[in-house]
Amino acid sequence: MKTVSSLSDLRAARLSLKGTVALVPTMGYLHEGHLSLIRQAKADCERVIVSIFVNPTQFGPNEDLSNYPRDLERDLNLIQPLGVDLAWTPSAEVMYPPGYQTWVEVEALSRPLEGAMRPGHFRGVTTVMAKLFNAAQPDKAYFGQKDAQQAAVIRQMTRDLNFPIEIVICPTMREADGLAMSSRNEYLNADERQAATVLFRALSAAKEAYEAGEREGEAIRRKMKEVLVREPLAQMQYVSCADYDTLEELAVIKGKVLLSMAVFFGKTRLIDNFVVG
Ligand code: PAF
Repeated sequence: MKTVSSLSDLRAARLSLKGTVALVPTMGYLHEGHLSLIRQAKADCERVIVSIFVNPTQFGPNEDLSNYPRDLERDLNLIQPLGVDLAWTPSAEVMYPPGYQTWVEVEALSRPLEGAMRPGHFRGVTTVMAKLFNAAQPDKAYFGQKDAQQAAVIRQMTRDLNFPIEIVICPTMREADGLAMSSRNEYLNADERQAATVLFRALSAAKEAYEAGEREGEAIRRKMKEVLVREPLAQMQYVSCADYDTLEELAVIKGKVLLSMAVFFGKTRLIDNFVVG
């Protein structure tokens, strides 16, 4: 596995990769969820590039950029045995040199849910993804379903900007008790870690209600809230029952639906979702 940091080294290394190329973009501190994306990329494509970059522009001023967990050596040791061809680890100066002033923004899909709670977040995500796509020129790019809105926004950007790249969305990887894998789980203390299973429990309760025939959006949202309020360490930020394609909140459920939520445990903010229908 070759590791490069500069854009010129990345371009030279990319030119030497023949056949179909996959990109797995990450912010590092890799867990089984990331590794499952790499395994899928490896199964689908001849060559795999993994980018590791904690993108400063997708963090708000009061978010966890400076504390975001980082361990590059550990990450490289984890991905090497998976047959990754190229690890790209640019610095913030490489991605955003002094004087940087170009942004990529997807409009409607970026507004609700995470976009409403984290202003500017998706502008940072789509800008960095456009830059990663331009530099790495992959045939396919891999993202996790756990960040469902991110996946939808990136899919839209890829279509709107005519990137000839297939966006592949892979299932959320979970711990044995249902907690979705996330680098941010690292912040939880033992009690919060225990309490954090409430996201999975709340989503499961909503799914059960849906499967029992409930089709009223508000009743489904209420179901999730009922489970969340019973967990004293959980502070709900939002629950949503939205159309899978438009992300608009539903009064009456029809077709494919995204059930999602954001919940604080102390200072740690976790998100999760299920798709039904
Ligand atoms: O999901 C992530 O890890 C990041 O948002 C991404 C897609 C790598 C962009 O920085």
